[in-house]
Amino acid sequence: MIQMTGVYKSYDKGQHALNDIHLKIEKGEFVFVVGASGAGKTTLLKVIFCEERIDKGVAIVNGHDIFRLKESQIPYLRRGIGFVFQDFKLIHRKTVFENISLPMEMIGSSRSEIKKRVGEMLKMVQLESHIHKLPSTLSAGEQQRVAIARAMVNYPLILLADEPTGNLDEALSIDILNLLKGINSNGTTVVVATHQRNTISKISGRVVALKQGQIISDGERP
Ligand SMILES: Nc1ncnc2c1ncn2[C@@H]1O[C@H](COP(=O)(O)OP(=O)(O)O)[C@@H](O)[C@H]1O
Ligand SMILES: [Mg+2]
Repeated sequence: MIQMTGVYKSYDKGQHALNDIHLKIEKGEFVFVVGASGAGKTTLLKVIFCEERIDKGVAIVNGHDIFRLKESQIPYLRRGIGFVFQDFKLIHRKTVFENISLPMEMIGSSRSEIKKRVGEMLKMVQLESHIHKLPSTLSAGEQQRVAIARAMVNYPLILLADEPTGNLDEALSIDILNLLKGINSNGTTVVVATHQRNTISKISGRVVALKQGQIISDGERP
C-alpha cells in the first residue's frame, strides 16, 4: 500500500526533513506517526500525497511510483487518498451537504449518487440532522467529522490525517480517533500524524516515531 526505501526530502539546502526513511504500511493498517514539532510528520504525509516531491529513494503508494510520477498523473494518485487537516479546511459559505459533495462533483458523479453517498457519510459521522447547516454553526468536533466525511466520500484506499485532533479537547480527540478507527476497521488504511502522545496513548495501534526526519522507533502498542 505504502512502501518507502531510502527516502529523502529537504526543502532548501538545510537539513533533511525526511532522512533515509524505510517504511512499509500494509493495506488495512492503522498507524500513528508521532514526533515533536519539526520532526517531519507533515512532510511524510505530503510526500505520500505528492504535495511535496521526494528528492531520492523509492516510494510506492497504491501502486504509483511517486518519485517518477508525472505531474499529470498526480490527480489519479490523489483519487485513492483522503486527507484530513487540523483546521478542517471546510468551505464556510457552503452547507455540510455541499462540503461533503465536493469531491464527488469533481469526479462528475450524478446527483442521485451524490445524495445517496453523502447520506451514508452523514450517518457514519452521526451528523444527519446537520445536513443543511453551515460549518460555522457547528462545534469544532462536528466540523472535523464533516471534514472526515468529505475525505471518505470517494472511497479512498488510504486516509491521511495531519494533527486531526490538534484543535480539540481530549474527550473530543478520543471521539475523532475512535471514528478513524471505525473507518479503518471497514478496510481503509489510516495514517494519523500527531504530536499529542498523551491523547493517542489510550488508543491501540502501530506507532512510528520520527525525530529530525528519521524513524527512531516503530512498533505495535496493545
Ligand atoms: N515549506 C517548507 N519550507 C521549508 N522548510 C520546511 C517547509 N515545511 C517544513 N519545513 C521544515 O521541515 C522540517 C519538518 O517539518 P514538518 O514536516 O512540518 O514537521 P512536523 O509536521 O513534524 O512538525 C522542519 O525543520 C521544518 O522547518
Ligand atoms: Mg506538522
